[in-house]
Amino acid sequence: MKKIKILFVCLGNICRSPAAQGVMQRLVEERGLAHRFEIDSAGTYSGHRGQLPDPRMRRHASRRSYNLTHRARPITSDDFEHFHIIVAMDESNRRNLKHMASTIEQESKIIMMGDYIVKLRAHYDYVPDPYYEGAEGFELALDLIEDACNNLLNEIINDKRYNK
Ligand code: 4NP
Repeated sequence: MKKIKILFVCLGNICRSPAAQGVMQRLVEERGLAHRFEIDSAGTYSGHRGQLPDPRMRRHASRRSYNLTHRARPITSDDFEHFHIIVAMDESNRRNLKHMASTIEQESKIIMMGDYIVKLRAHYDYVPDPYYEGAEGFELALDLIEDACNNLLNEIINDKRYNK
């Protein structure tokens, strides 16, 4: 069975997408599926290259027992070939990714994190950027990310394309 490769993408790759990477990594480990997945994250903006996730995100995530150790990196054209699923945190990320995709097939790999939000669906169909927010912004981002990752993983597990 081939590995399912998922790339989470936000703007800076220091708040939302490394958190989503950490949440999804723990989910696949809890379900005994880690060997079947490759999970990574990247940003559309390169200014934070090499940095650990924002200390505020690391602090809030660690309270939920996530240890975020990813080093920020900008997305590359190779990523569009390598990964099967590219998950945008918000509409701006999606637009940037769409511009970068060089084939229809690459473009078809882009999905919206917001499509997997169920619990706070009435209020959020994307993961708001917490960078300029206070503690509530980081807690909200983590709540949305945990919900969406759980639902996304369920969909992938039930998708015949990934179970060949
Ligand atoms: P992220 O948050 O896209 O969730 O990593 C941001 C991080 C940095 C900046 C904006 C958003 N920034 O403007 O530097």
